[in-house]
Amino acid sequence: MKHLLKMSDLTREELFHILDVADELKADNKAGRKHHYLEGKTIALIFAKASTRTRTSFEVGAYQLGGLGTYLNATTEMQIGRGEPIQDTARVLGRYYDGIMIRTFKQSDVEALAQWSGIPVINGLTDYCHPCQVLADLQTIRERRGSFEGLKMCFIGDGNNMANSLIVGGLLAGMSVTAVCPNNYLPAADVLEYAKAYPGKFTFCQDPKEGAKGADILVTDVWTSMGQEEETQLRKKAFQGYQINGELLSLANPGCMVLHCLPAHRGEEITADVFEAHADEIFDEAENRLHAQKAVMAILMGGK
Ligand code: CP
Ligand code: NVA
Repeated sequence: MKHLLKMSDLTREELFHILDVADELKADNKAGRKHHYLEGKTIALIFAKASTRTRTSFEVGAYQLGGLGTYLNATTEMQIGRGEPIQDTARVLGRYYDGIMIRTFKQSDVEALAQWSGIPVINGLTDYCHPCQVLADLQTIRERRGSFEGLKMCFIGDGNNMANSLIVGGLLAGMSVTAVCPNNYLPAADVLEYAKAYPGKFTFCQDPKEGAKGADILVTDVWTSMGQEEETQLRKKAFQGYQINGELLSLANPGCMVLHCLPAHRGEEITADVFEAHADEIFDEAENRLHAQKAVMAILMGGK
């Protein structure tokens, strides 16, 4: 494993290694045991979109491992925002830093950064996928359920970056996965193709009630992702009914977990009462961003 660009690049062994290291680093963090996997190392944290969790968890995580993360605003501060080619940016940063995390729009920019920088690149969200988030989601599911065996995870909402990574990550981890998305908002074609390698494990449907039946984990995400703000009203109409609420949850298995990558829009993709009833799970999920990403940095940059 040289980079973390998308979930489908990972083998099952690599995925479980990341999750095992994440659990280990979480336990060590709680016990006050310190690590120095990034001693003297630096990671560039490039953001072309807003972030609360990704930025802070990478900055804190790099520091906790003995390294330094430097935040770079790609839109207003870097020359990429003024048109400097990604391959030139990559070749410069590759000479200063030991790793790069990037949040941007195009997946191809992340791939180009990996191709040209010569150092490990971590995808901190693109329009196509959000692998760091899904590693944290999987860590949360496993720590609460003990294993992935026999679990059904159902994603309800936009077939976006989260849906794409959840489908691949859920199947790779060994769960059954159902995606419920309205017309015109389907998961990426290559993700649906990937799912064909898991016959009987992946289902796509358009009725949230049908998808929620027998689910052990319900997951959703915003109806309008970053960069799609102009479509907000159109999307509010298209996603009517694609909401995790008490009625939908009653169709799932007893004790069904609810996950949300955050930020959440109460009253849209999830009701306030369901959100608050599952806040412990959702904020464990947010916490695990720190541990899962420390694992990724320790493996890619610290020889773990
Ligand atoms: N879930 C997530 O990636 O959060 P941020 O956008 O705050 O980083
Ligand atoms: N789908 C959302 C995820 C935010 C973490 C977005 O891209 O804005």
